[in-house]
Amino acid sequence: MNVLVTGGAGFIGANFLRLLVPRHPEHRFVNVDALTYAANPKSLAPIAEAPGYCFERVDITDADAVDRVFATHQPDVVVHFAAESHVDRSILGPKQFLRTNFEGTFNLLEACRKHWQDLGDKVFHHVSTDEVYGSLGTEGFFTEETAYDPSSPYSASKAASDHLVRAWHRTYGLPVKITNCSNNYGPLQFPEKLIPLMILNAVERKPLPIYGEGLNVRDWLYVTDHCEAIWKVVQSGAVGETYNIGGHNEKTNIDVVDALCHLVAEETGVDAAELLALKTFVKDRPGHDMRYAIDATKIERDLGWTPKQTFESGMRETVRWYLANDAWIQDVKSGDYKTWIEANYGDRRDGESAS
Ligand code: NAD
Ligand code: DAU
Repeated sequence: MNVLVTGGAGFIGANFLRLLVPRHPEHRFVNVDALTYAANPKSLAPIAEAPGYCFERVDITDADAVDRVFATHQPDVVVHFAAESHVDRSILGPKQFLRTNFEGTFNLLEACRKHWQDLGDKVFHHVSTDEVYGSLGTEGFFTEETAYDPSSPYSASKAASDHLVRAWHRTYGLPVKITNCSNNYGPLQFPEKLIPLMILNAVERKPLPIYGEGLNVRDWLYVTDHCEAIWKVVQSGAVGETYNIGGHNEKTNIDVVDALCHLVAEETGVDAAELLALKTFVKDRPGHDMRYAIDATKIERDLGWTPKQTFESGMRETVRWYLANDAWIQDVKSGDYKTWIEANYGDRRDGESAS
């Protein structure tokens, strides 16, 4: 089977390929990635020479290039990760989010429609987010039936792409599957996201910027648990169906940051109080969703998926990974990282140290 993976040099895509390429030598995996700021080819070093793996540097907003990749590699399965993924970036510059997340998804759907004559064994798997459902109050969970209500340019662009995927199924009979997952964490995540940013800032004794009062809630899932869930849906999920994926790990941001300070302190032998004193409340994210929480009953009941990592075990593995992988970190911190940190946090500096 030929499996075309888009965005395989990013956080979740690279974890997915590192898990599945060694496990499935009978399949060919083609990684299609534009190598934006969020990608790091070093993430793929363990599989770069594997016989069943190859890389194509292609921007999915380029319809002709996408068409050529389909003609060359003739995929049976597409697992579509490629996206602009960071909410704060979408607030400062929404256009590229519409281009990649909406138009890029459209180009892939059209390539499937053109190249897939026999639809029998084909799958277009669209990797999406729980952010399409908007924000919860203190009660309740997102189910597959929750109405879409996105708040940010990022989540609106992902919601739009989900609608395209469903429309291509209903109108053209394309065999699609969609997963909507909660917040991922783990190795290889670009340090603009909360968990790696806090680990690296704590190590460097820089302020730990907490938006608003730090009471927003996210439902955290270890990245390889997400990857296993996606592969389960690719293999045995029903065509045309949506599956929500989540970790049953609801935490306020402040609790996440506190836990990270204690873990980094333990792992590096410093006093936790020194790291906790770095917490700084800064100006909130506009349109900041209050709470996400996933009801994962459908994928657990129908496909027998459950997460393997607890929040405690996954967080410790993550902290250890960032402490042990300085070369990877230095690689992603060159390039546009410094400019981004200044653009995003520069005008939030009315914050104060947390007590
Ligand atoms: P990421 O930002 O780490 O990686 C995105 C990858 O896509 C990068 O390798 C980048 O080079 C590539 N890419 C971006 N634009 C491209 C383009 N125009 N053409 C080709 N490649 C392009 O993202 P991630 O966190 O790994 O997320 C992957 C997918 O999972 C996204 O679709 C995201 O919406 C979804 N998702 C993420 C999370 C999360 O917590 N990170 C949770 C749920 C769903
Ligand atoms: O829910 C799934 C989504 O999770 C994915 O679809 C997105 O691609 C992914 O980026 C993530 O979005 P969030 O906005 O929830 O993740 P982020 O790591 O940016 O922020 C997590 C929480 O922490 C959020 O409430 C904002 C807050 N935060 C974030 C940063 C970067 C801070 O308080 N300070 C920070 O510096």
